[in-house]
Amino acid sequence: MIRIEELTYRLPDGRAILDNLSLEVPTGATMAVMGLSGTGKTTLLKCVAGLLAPASGRIWIDDKQIVGMSEKRLNRVRQQMGYVFQYAALFDSLSVYENVAFGPMRRGAKRGPELDALVAERLRIVGMEGVENLMPSELSGGMAKRVGLARALALNPRFVLYDEPTSGLDPITARVIDDLIIRVRDSLHVTSLVVTHAVNSVFRFADIATMLYEGSAVATGTPEELRNCGDERVRQFIEGNSNGPIRVV
Ligand SMILES: Nc1ncnc2c1ncn2[C@@H]1O[C@H](COP(=O)(O)OP(=O)(O)OP(=O)(O)O)[C@@H](O)[C@H]1O
Ligand SMILES: [Mg+2]
Repeated sequence: MIRIEELTYRLPDGRAILDNLSLEVPTGATMAVMGLSGTGKTTLLKCVAGLLAPASGRIWIDDKQIVGMSEKRLNRVRQQMGYVFQYAALFDSLSVYENVAFGPMRRGAKRGPELDALVAERLRIVGMEGVENLMPSELSGGMAKRVGLARALALNPRFVLYDEPTSGLDPITARVIDDLIIRVRDSLHVTSLVVTHAVNSVFRFADIATMLYEGSAVATGTPEELRNCGDERVRQFIEGNSNGPIRVV
């Protein structure tokens, strides 16, 4: 599981972006983290991946507590995590094959039938078979997201962190990605944290959802429970109303 306890992350000016946040994603579940732009969703994912150091709190990845962990031990935990970046973040000068094979090659895998089969299989999972030789510049945004997911899956992660997997995509391609998140959960039995402001997507793929606001989780439950919860902020967010307790300047 992924368990976040009393996590506080501060900007250099001292402002707490995450403020005593606690969340738990049970093993094998997919949790969606919703929230306004700038509310700290990417910051949260980077803390879970050990890329940012919180001011206080604890993050458990199964039985390992990673806040304050040495880089060497952190690297071992990170090997179990796949990270799908907000902007796909493929290496432009590497082919699709090399992008997907990047993690295994860094760990010593050599190009050959075994690695070819792994790359082909991961591309198949994301519905992108046969594109090994394309360059990132030849991919559409939706294709790049899927290759980014194939790359995140290359090392058989037990945890997958997705940052805005459907942002900037048309509704049909977004739906394909939502279905992929479900397929990855079911076929690879991963535990996932997905940050997004796409409410429709949350209702499709999430087992549990939470809404971040001003540094903490204002409500957590199944998507249906959130839809029916009495919190005006959650209702405003889900309905996308410009009027309500949340004021966006
Ligand atoms: N390195 C940094 N230095 C200063 N401020 C930062 C830094 N990184 C993030 N921030 C601020 O922290 C806040 C949270 O940023 P974050 O990227 O986590 O938001 P987000 O919820 O992912 O937003 P979006 O939905 O737009 O991706 C923002 O107000 C941002 O301006
Ligand atoms: Mg973000």
